[in-house]
Amino acid sequence: MTDPAPARRLFIKTYGCQMNVYDSERMADLLRPLGYAMAEGPEDADLVVLNTCHIREKATEKVYSELGYIKQMKLDRQARGKSMTIAVAGCVAQAEGKEIMHRQPAVDLVIGPQAYHQLPELIARTHRAKGERLAADFAAEAKFDRLGPERKADGVTAFLTVQEGCDKFCTFCVVPYTRGAEFSRPAEAILAEARDLAAQGVREVTLLGQNVNAYGGEGGLAALVRQLAQVEGLDRIRYTTSHPADMDLALIAAHGEVEALMPYLHLPVQAGSDRVLKAMNRAHTAESYLRLVERIRKARPDMALAGDFIVGFPGERESDFEATLQLVVEIGYASAFSFKYSRRPGTPAAALPGQLAEEVKDERLARLNALLDDQQKAFNASQVGATLPVLFERAGRHPGQLSGRSPYLQAVHVAGPDHLIGQIVPVRIEGAAKMSLAGALALEFA
Ligand code: 5AD
Ligand code: SF4
Repeated sequence: MTDPAPARRLFIKTYGCQMNVYDSERMADLLRPLGYAMAEGPEDADLVVLNTCHIREKATEKVYSELGYIKQMKLDRQARGKSMTIAVAGCVAQAEGKEIMHRQPAVDLVIGPQAYHQLPELIARTHRAKGERLAADFAAEAKFDRLGPERKADGVTAFLTVQEGCDKFCTFCVVPYTRGAEFSRPAEAILAEARDLAAQGVREVTLLGQNVNAYGGEGGLAALVRQLAQVEGLDRIRYTTSHPADMDLALIAAHGEVEALMPYLHLPVQAGSDRVLKAMNRAHTAESYLRLVERIRKARPDMALAGDFIVGFPGERESDFEATLQLVVEIGYASAFSFKYSRRPGTPAAALPGQLAEEVKDERLARLNALLDDQQKAFNASQVGATLPVLFERAGRHPGQLSGRSPYLQAVHVAGPDHLIGQIVPVRIEGAAKMSLAGALALEFA
């Protein structure tokens, strides 16, 4: 008997959005057949992938500074007779291309989001031709269906990409430039992947897309959701992130009719002032957003809303900012993501007059966050006393504890036996904090 070949070690550092989290998992899946297992940290890795994000200011500079550290680890490994391949993926790779290898010669591979299916081949090529440095072609071709069919599920929930790119061109945002035009994956491929995940024990899928509700397959996202709801074993469906302009009647109706579609919707509004929304090129007003949420809540009265907000957009006056606060009060958010406007070179808003001082942005962000925090706490507190179905995902931090999610995406901690992981079980909610709920099993489980 010979020992199996020593495993190669892979370390992926992921920045940014859930799309990148998903892409990182897929890269790990693609590299597994080449013998790559996960490393604890970059210093132990034969292959380090930085999966980068470009959405915020100085993102590129942060990547270069991280690469400086990793280069040092590469040199340390080389001194011990080991090698390290460094790859840069994601949106900074897309935006900077080969420039990355000029600025940081320790980088072996630059690979844009459209070229991940080539990763195993590119890695093999860098290894064969020692020292050959490669930049994958960044053509906006459909990458999805060239990815291998096998995907190893990791737990009882999974992300599933259905759409990529964005045609909306909000004036502050780099996504339409870095991720390119909208592209939707064929429904058949999505369903096949969903069935495969369900067969591996996945109970909940979150459909991903930069602009997921613009899904372009026949019948749109509503039809896809209805088909996914038929997949044996899939009990929960979520999707993120949505644009208000693509929230069509069929999708709203699905929220009232499809039991598996969870009552939590991430629907960014960005601002509450029509003047600012227009300058952002958002294609909705505060009023149209409020009416939309009203229609959604008519279909699904317990819908929990989450939002994204940008404070300090160029030209934002105090009165504009107050309109954002007013809108937040009127909607009542269950959770939210708020950002200070950050100037992204190449986007229209970066060239606008009226850029605001950092202190003004800080002060507005603090006021907005105070309001959003209060709403989140109030939303969580409103569930105390209720019994909610919880999907248990993993053992909790303390022995004998389980951790799961409510339909509204709240983390729920409960004392209970491990065999409940992967099951949806009624839990009586007894306590609430800002980030989670605590409860007790509502039924006796041996
Ligand atoms: N500045 C601040 N926030 C931004 N976002 C996108 N671009 C910018 C920017 N230039 C935020 C938006 C978006 C979320 C993913 O990131 O709120 O919905
Ligand atoms: Fe960016 Fe706007 Fe597209 Fe969202 S909808 S990805 S904010 S351009």
